[in-house]
Amino acid sequence: MSVIKQIKEEPAMGVADIAIDLQDINVTFKRKNETVTAVDNVSLQVKKGSIYGIIGYSGAGKSTLVRVINLLQRPTSGKVTVSGKDLQQLTDKKLRGVRQKVGMIFQHFNLLRSRTVLNNVEYPLLSRKISRKQRQDKALELLKLVGLSEYAQSYPEELSGGQKQRVAIARALANDPDILISDEATSALDPQTTESILKLLKKLNDELDLTIVLITHEMQVIKSVCQEVAVMENGQIIERGPVGDLFTEPKQPLTKKFVESAANVTEMRQQIVEDKLVEKLQPNERLLYLRFSSQSTSESVISELAIQYDVKANIIFANVQKVAQLSLGYMLVILSTADGQFDQTFHYLETADVKVTDFSNDVRKKGAAYVS
Ligand SMILES: Nc1ncnc2c1ncn2[C@@H]1O[C@H](COP(=O)(O)OP(=O)(O)O)[C@@H](O)[C@H]1O
Ligand SMILES: [Mg+2]
Repeated sequence: MSVIKQIKEEPAMGVADIAIDLQDINVTFKRKNETVTAVDNVSLQVKKGSIYGIIGYSGAGKSTLVRVINLLQRPTSGKVTVSGKDLQQLTDKKLRGVRQKVGMIFQHFNLLRSRTVLNNVEYPLLSRKISRKQRQDKALELLKLVGLSEYAQSYPEELSGGQKQRVAIARALANDPDILISDEATSALDPQTTESILKLLKKLNDELDLTIVLITHEMQVIKSVCQEVAVMENGQIIERGPVGDLFTEPKQPLTKKFVESAANVTEMRQQIVEDKLVEKLQPNERLLYLRFSSQSTSESVISELAIQYDVKANIIFANVQKVAQLSLGYMLVILSTADGQFDQTFHYLETADVKVTDFSNDVRKKGAAYVS
C-alpha cells in the first residue's frame, strides 16, 4: 500500500462513531400455520452523520428491519444498539426517550387532517413539559427550516405532496432527533419533488448532523444522497458498500439490475429486442454492451479503436451517470472490422478497463437479449 493511500485512509471506526449497530437480527412472523421470515440474520452498522440507503423490492424486509432500530418491531433474535445504548436492556420509560431521538417519515405522510400544519408539527411536543409559546416557537422554527413558514395555518389537504412531506419532516424533527428514518418517503412523489425532498434531507444531514437511514426501491434516490447502501432481498442484505463501489462493480444480479435502472439501461435492453438488433448483425459485426469507469472515457476508447485498430463504431445508446464523484458510462455499440476478427479489439478493451458484454454471442447462445 502506498504512503499516500495510508494517509488518506480514515482511522478505524470506533464505537462512538456508530449511530446504529444491528447484530444478527432475525424477525419472524407467524401467519396461520406458516412462519414468515421478514428479516434473515442481518447485521448493519450506520456511521454517525452518514446517509445510509437500503434498497430492495417490496416485501424484501426493509420496513421491518428499520422498525427494529427503535424497537417498534422487537427482533425474534439479535442485538440492537442505538447511540451506544443496548435498547433491549432499557426500561419502557428509557426506551421512550430513545424513540424520541429517532424520527420517522413515510410514503403517505401520516399527517392529521383535522389539524393545521403548525399543530401537526407541534403534536410530538404535546407530552413535553414546555409552555405553549415554546412549543409554537419550536414548530415555527422547524417550518422555517423546511421552507414552509407561510403555511403554518393551512391544513394538510391544501398542500401538494412535496409540501406534505416537508410538514412530516418538520414533525419528525420536533424532538431534535439524532437519527431520521425515511421509509419510502419519496415514493409517492414525482421526480422533481423527489429531488427537492432529497436536497432537504441532505441539508438536514449537513446542518443538524442528522444520521439518516433511507429506504427506497429506486436507485436514483440512493445515487443522489447516500454514501453507503445495502441491497435487500428475501430478508437478507445480499450486497453492501460505498455507493460508488456498488455502482462501478455490482456483483449480485439484483444490484446490477438496480444500477442499470438508474442509467436507463433497462430501456436499452428493450430496444435491442424490439429493433431485432442481433438478428440484423452482419458476420463482421458485434453488438457490445460496454461499461466505462472514470479511468476510461468512452470517447477516447472509441476513437482509439478507430485509429489504432480500424474498428468502426455505430453507437446505439450511450449514457453517463455521476455517482459519488465518479462518471460511469454505459454504451451499446455495433463494432465492425474489415476481416470479422475481434481478438485485438477485446484485448484492447480489457487493457482500457472497459467491461464488455458481447450481446451477439450472448444472444446466439441464449436466444434472448440479456445482460449478465
Ligand atoms: N406484522 C406482520 N405480520 C406478518 N407478516 C409481516 C408483517 N410485517 C411484514 N410482514 C411480512 O414480512 C415481509 C417483509 O415485509 P416488509 O418489511 O414490509 O418489506 P418491505 O418494506 O421491503 O416491502 C413480507 O413478506 C411481509 O408480508
Ligand atoms: Mg416497506
